Amino acid sequence: MAKQITPSTKLYAIFGKPVSHSISPLIHNMLLNEFGIDAVYLAFEISDIKKGVEAIRALGIKGASITIPFKEDIIKYLDEIDDTAIKIGAVNTVINKNGHLWGCNTDCDGATKPLKEATGSLEGKQVYIIGAGGAARAVAFGVKKELGKLIIVNRSKDKGQSLAKEVEAEFLPLELFNGSTHLSSSRNRDYPIDIIINTTSVGMNPNIDESPVNPEIFNKNMVVMDIVYNPLKTKMLKDAQSSGCKIVDGLSMFIYQGAAQFELFTGIKAPHQLMRDIALTQLMR
Ligand code: ATR
Repeated sequence: MAKQITPSTKLYAIFGKPVSHSISPLIHNMLLNEFGIDAVYLAFEISDIKKGVEAIRALGIKGASITIPFKEDIIKYLDEIDDTAIKIGAVNTVINKNGHLWGCNTDCDGATKPLKEATGSLEGKQVYIIGAGGAARAVAFGVKKELGKLIIVNRSKDKGQSLAKEVEAEFLPLELFNGSTHLSSSRNRDYPIDIIINTTSVGMNPNIDESPVNPEIFNKNMVVMDIVYNPLKTKMLKDAQSSGCKIVDGLSMFIYQGAAQFELFTGIKAPHQLMRDIALTQLMR
């Protein structure tokens, strides 16, 4: 945050419910301070996103992060939506351009950028996404944008098939995926698994002994990513690492989407490592 609050100090915000555990204020204020920007970033736990958008307009809030449960609802109250966010059906970032509110989604690239760092281009890679909720949608569009070959794996058939259809991916029931260790052995030649991404909350604190993936599926050629970052190394990531997989933790996605937001807010590229260090000090508490 700004070192000194003055009448010209600008306001950025996060709207969600709940937001009490969010580490976004800590990270954004640290970045604002680091770059000497005269602004603060505050968290607002609200019940009605329509009123949140009215507040952005009334108070001249320069930019906002939007989190659960408002990412879909907010769309109808904004003036313009970026094409990718329209496809995903969710906005996680609002920029106030002199009263014109523009919404976009940084979750999508936030997921694929750390993956690309771990594995290079996603083009042609067989990417299995576990889950078919809002988070899965954003990640799925990101993978499609990078020309990955996508397979949606989900517990419930209806939800899984419907997302798969929408993103032109195959669908595989979770039960079958987990039962089919042959995927990673004999069938592996026909259907290699290059990347597995968990987008469900399975394994999140306090259920730290749970994993959505049968550990027998992992082999050393795979990259395995979790979007859960609490704990930082989930059971799924531990299992994957034991099998020699490269792993990408959920904090990476969080940092990349936040860095993209900061760049949209201020035009300044955010230092990922510094953001990660700050986030870790908070998460380790
Ligand atoms: P979000 O918007 O945060 O992604 P969501 O819309 O509730 O959350 O979606 C959660 C996803 O996690 C769903 O795909 C859900 O599977 P179902 O469609 O079968 O409900 C999946 N999920 C949640 N808990 C799960 C569990 N214990 N095992 C397997 N999948 C689970």
